[in-house]
Amino acid sequence: MLLNRTSSGPAIALTFSLACYHCARPQNPRDSSGSKSWAGSNLYFLHGLPLSDQTNYVETLAAWGVKVLRLWVTQTSAGCVKGSTDVQAVPPLEAIGFIGTYNTSVLASLDNTLKILSDNGIKAIISPHDAGSINGSNGCDAYCAKYHNSDTFYSSTDAKTNYDNRLKQILTYQSPNFGRPWASLSDVILAFDIQNEPMIGSTDMLENNDPNDWICGRAGVMKNILGNSNIKVATGGIGGSEYCCNHEWNMLNKALYCDAIDIMSVHGYMSKATDWAYFINGSASVLNQANSAGKHVMVEEWGVSTSYQDDFNVQVSVFNDNGMPWLYWQVIPGLDQTQSGAPSSCGYDGFEIGLASSKGDIADAAAAANAATANQSWIGYVP
Ligand SMILES: *[C@@H]1O[C@H](CO)[C@@H](O)[C@H](O)[C@H]1NC(C)=O
Ligand SMILES: *[C@@H]1O[C@H](CO)[C@@H](O)[C@H](O)[C@H]1NC(C)=O
Ligand SMILES: *[C@@H]1O[C@H](CO)[C@@H](O)[C@H](O)[C@H]1NC(C)=O
Repeated sequence: MLLNRTSSGPAIALTFSLACYHCARPQNPRDSSGSKSWAGSNLYFLHGLPLSDQTNYVETLAAWGVKVLRLWVTQTSAGCVKGSTDVQAVPPLEAIGFIGTYNTSVLASLDNTLKILSDNGIKAIISPHDAGSINGSNGCDAYCAKYHNSDTFYSSTDAKTNYDNRLKQILTYQSPNFGRPWASLSDVILAFDIQNEPMIGSTDMLENNDPNDWICGRAGVMKNILGNSNIKVATGGIGGSEYCCNHEWNMLNKALYCDAIDIMSVHGYMSKATDWAYFINGSASVLNQANSAGKHVMVEEWGVSTSYQDDFNVQVSVFNDNGMPWLYWQVIPGLDQTQSGAPSSCGYDGFEIGLASSKGDIADAAAAANAATANQSWIGYVP
């Protein structure tokens, strides 16, 4: 997801009359071992909020039955971000020109957020880096400044070493709140993503099934560090959002058959619920693909803009009807743009749902997720 996108999302050209290349008949093999589905939200700047705001947000979501929040290891700037007027500045883990020199302020901030999650029975998915900051589409960070271009980043041995060191720094960070390294905090961390939306700017590499084995290689590094920890490795949404029929890389073969990867992350922004059904339980069913490869799968990002044909409540029923866990992009602590009094110049992307907004009933949707039989067993991974 682009952080400051103001348009109503990707153009979607969807048709069901196209020849189908994944046409194994959907079998929808529900896991009947008693595992339930679950629901959550992204909030990439949560750690940049004052602790009282964080606590209020997390307590509200927990009371609604939300089980997971997705956090990012990212810098934040002071000011107004998506309805929150009091975001504080947090410096990047690696400053421009200083790859390999870590300012752990961001990890300390995130650790305080983890404590609040833990106190409320919510688990975190942590994204260690955003591919959108490599080629400038979400800003230009230290990797962008050094490698300039996405293809160079994903093919350079030097860049792989830099990135592996970053992963190691994050996964072995000694938690001040828990007194253990993050890699051992499976009671509060569900998964680490490999990256947010790996290779979103490297379409050729995706079309060639990751010829440099960047994705599986990084997952292997993570698994080595995690050892026998119960924390999962998730893909982070390979290639960015899915949209039919020529932008479908979330289930990339190299990742689907990579032993070090546990969870396939699906990202998408669809106008119509039937567009989601195509990916969830229709011709391109990610559930069937994941099940046949022995992987977990979750909808890690999805959002609904007011211009979309089907609203939040209609779209979320596709996930809940099919036992698919989901994380909304994003339930926000402040006001969304459909609420009166929403601040101006606040970097909205149009997908936000405020806690008291009528745009979508998060409590109802989370309750439906918690009641739905999952397609895979998440027992032991979500509270
Ligand atoms: C890390 O960032 C914090 C907050 O901006 C700053 O106070 C501190 O000096 C930085 N530490 C280093 C080692 O640069
Ligand atoms: C960066 O990646 C985006 C995909 O998010 C792509 O649309 C854009 O063309 C890329 N820009 C460059 C300069 O490679
Ligand atoms: C997929 O799920 C949707 C939402 O519950 C349902 O309406 C549709 O009939 C299902 N499609 C298939 C092919 O099972």
